[in-house]
Amino acid sequence: MTPTSALVTFILLAGAASLHVPPCLPDEDATILSQPMFPVVDPSSLQTINLTLTYFTCPSRQVQPQNANTMKRQSQTPVDLCTLMEGGQVQEGSIFSCEQAPGEEPTNIDCSNIDDTVIDNLVRGMTIIVPPLSGVIVTIQNNTCALTFSNNDLTVTLETCLEAISDMYSNIALGGCHIIPPAPDGFIGSIRSIHSPGNSFLQNWQLNILSFSSLDL
Ligand SMILES: *[C@@H]1O[C@H](CO)[C@@H](O)[C@H](O)[C@H]1NC(C)=O
Ligand SMILES: *[C@@H]1O[C@H](CO)[C@@H](O)[C@H](O)[C@H]1NC(C)=O
Repeated sequence: MTPTSALVTFILLAGAASLHVPPCLPDEDATILSQPMFPVVDPSSLQTINLTLTYFTCPSRQVQPQNANTMKRQSQTPVDLCTLMEGGQVQEGSIFSCEQAPGEEPTNIDCSNIDDTVIDNLVRGMTIIVPPLSGVIVTIQNNTCALTFSNNDLTVTLETCLEAISDMYSNIALGGCHIIPPAPDGFIGSIRSIHSPGNSFLQNWQLNILSFSSLDL
């Protein structure tokens, strides 16, 4: 093997790194579909950093019957949740999980910094389209926090905006989990909508706050 081909092999292996993320099974490697990056200015360091969107699916979810799924997927107009997620009504009746990680990651300041970065860089309205049974992870460089938005629906494509995801840290911690600031670090709460088949008002999605290191990304 020449040095060149050894290097190529290494890069391919590095690119196939495992990704552990809910709602995939705990021991399952998620499949990365695409990973667009956007240069933004970090308001805390004033350095230019990448904001990364990692679109993924779980192999275990793709083995489910796909008939209705694939047929609807092609013609469907996404259901827009941006305004709904930003409004209080989506939190009423949603299911909150208020968990604490064993360690001290993610830090609260890092999770808040993702939101500040989205707001300061005027990318708040960026459209996020998530097909059925897949999700997206929002991360920024040098940050211990990761936010995931997952579409748990079999057939409906969901659309939201970046700010609706980045705002959810405080909505979950302060709004749903009633954590009194200063909150302890290591908060990994989540919010899950109430699934209501046939009701386009309440769709089947969830949002998790995670530590970046738990993803193995
Ligand atoms: C952001 O990502 C692009 C594409 O991978 C890369 O070329 C660039 O160097 C990254 N920027 C920073 C600040 O790391
Ligand atoms: C990320 O953190 C490392 C180590 O703290 C630092 O050297 C580097 O400049 C940081 N990069 C950015 C883009 O903030």
